[in-house]
Amino acid sequence: MNKTEELKKAAGIKAVDFIHSGMLVGLGTGSTAEFAIEELSKRIKDGRFSDISCVPSSERTRNFAEALGLDLVPLDSERKIDVTIDGADEIDTGFNLIKGGGGALLREKVLAQNSERNIIVADESKLSKRLGERFPVPVEVLEFALEVEKGYLESLGGETCLRLTRDGFPFLTDQGNFIVDWGSGEMEDPSCFAERLSKRAGIVEHGLFIGTASDVIIGSARGVEHLVPGEPG
Ligand code: 5RP
Repeated sequence: MNKTEELKKAAGIKAVDFIHSGMLVGLGTGSTAEFAIEELSKRIKDGRFSDISCVPSSERTRNFAEALGLDLVPLDSERKIDVTIDGADEIDTGFNLIKGGGGALLREKVLAQNSERNIIVADESKLSKRLGERFPVPVEVLEFALEVEKGYLESLGGETCLRLTRDGFPFLTDQGNFIVDWGSGEMEDPSCFAERLSKRAGIVEHGLFIGTASDVIIGSARGVEHLVPGEPG
């Protein structure tokens, strides 16, 4: 395991300390979230947790969690998710996020909006002053609207790139849509861009997560840091 993976693993494991028996848990997507899912499964198997049900945020995570024997349930209007643990591609100083590197941003946002607590786990390389510094914004777009939405994104500045698979075919999300990676450049006010993108009919969802994180757990060379929006780090 390389250093970055070790930091991701440390953050993922720490996040599981916030789970208790009887909880409904949202499972994020990506390598850091998978470290947390593995730890969750371990603590269920060794008897530290009981009566845990989980809602996966992607087919990838569903397969991963199913293989570990976790109890998977659909979203339920009667019961909010207690805690969701998910990764991020970039985290700014206001705890806004870019997500969707794994293409699962739509279901991840649904989970985030239906969870009491959203714990974001990442290694320290994901921290930035302003969103857009390091990572493009993944935007889920209807195939029908691909060219016009690419044009719209470019009219806001920056460049766009249709995400492709290793074989050179368009990457398809779990909903069968395309992902356009929008190199927005640094965003002074990401919420303003989030509002603009949300208004476009051809944009199914975008990877700007504004104000959804309730905790951020960072694996860093100094150890694991638990950051809470509004509290000094
Ligand atoms: C998937 C995501 C992931 O959480 C994000 O890409 C981080 O992935 P990783 O933990 O592998 O670095 O948003 O859609």
